[in-house]
Amino acid sequence: MNLILLGAPGSGKGTQSAFLAREFDIAHISTGDILRAAVAAETDLGKKAQEYMNKGELVPDEIIIEIVKERLRQEDAEGGFLLDGFPRTVKQAQALDRFLEESGKKIDAVIDIEVEDNEIITRLSGRRVCVDCKEVYHLIFEPSKNEEYCDLCGGKLIQREDDRIDTIKRRTEVYKKQTEPLIEYYRQKRFLRSVNGQQSAESVFKDILTVIKGDYA
Ligand code: AP5
Repeated sequence: MNLILLGAPGSGKGTQSAFLAREFDIAHISTGDILRAAVAAETDLGKKAQEYMNKGELVPDEIIIEIVKERLRQEDAEGGFLLDGFPRTVKQAQALDRFLEESGKKIDAVIDIEVEDNEIITRLSGRRVCVDCKEVYHLIFEPSKNEEYCDLCGGKLIQREDDRIDTIKRRTEVYKKQTEPLIEYYRQKRFLRSVNGQQSAESVFKDILTVIKGDYA
């Protein structure tokens, strides 16, 4: 099973990816997570990426395409993968198409999680992330038992640098301009499956399974 999750910032791609990777036992490849790890490790890539991420801009295609190709060549992606946050531009999607064709692989489905703009602001401004294990919470929808610390590992919960209101607005604009055209790109290829992201995370997951399994029934 090779899947792509599309959706605006905060639509729930990371949340659903965790469920899906477990359900299908496939590699979860999140370009956002890869970049954040590089930023935390202060690598050259991290230093370069941070400039774009903190402003809510996309990291240049050339950089991200090479990262994803490298990641897809790793052994755990052989049995299937789930791309979360990639592709994000038509150029990235075309590069992915070429790479998969050369590798004799194909995409099984592209899931678009649909969420309205005002919900996105509520979700991102209330998101908190564990500084140690990276577990994701929400102040209202998914609170930790102790407001400031992770239920799983006790790590401190922080707000992502790019979850400040000005950056959220910029990320949403960038999504509409550069990523939304991918919906049409994949619709034309007949891979696109849309689900209503504005319900509980469990209901969204059920709907995603229904559309995927419908394809394989
Ligand atoms: P990335 O980390 O990919 O950010 P994003 O796409 O903006 O997505 P998010 O991680 O913000 O949200 P999500 O959809 O995963 O939602 P989540 O499940 O956490 O990228 C960050 C940056 O890296 C980019 O801006 C760019 O600079 C760079 N980058 C990454 N990939 C790139 C690429 N391919 N090309 C170029 N640059 C790239 O949920 C959000 C919140 O809502 C959480 O608090 C969660 O608990 C809550 N929630 C989730 N589902 C529900 C629900 N159903 N109901 C209520 N609350 C919910």
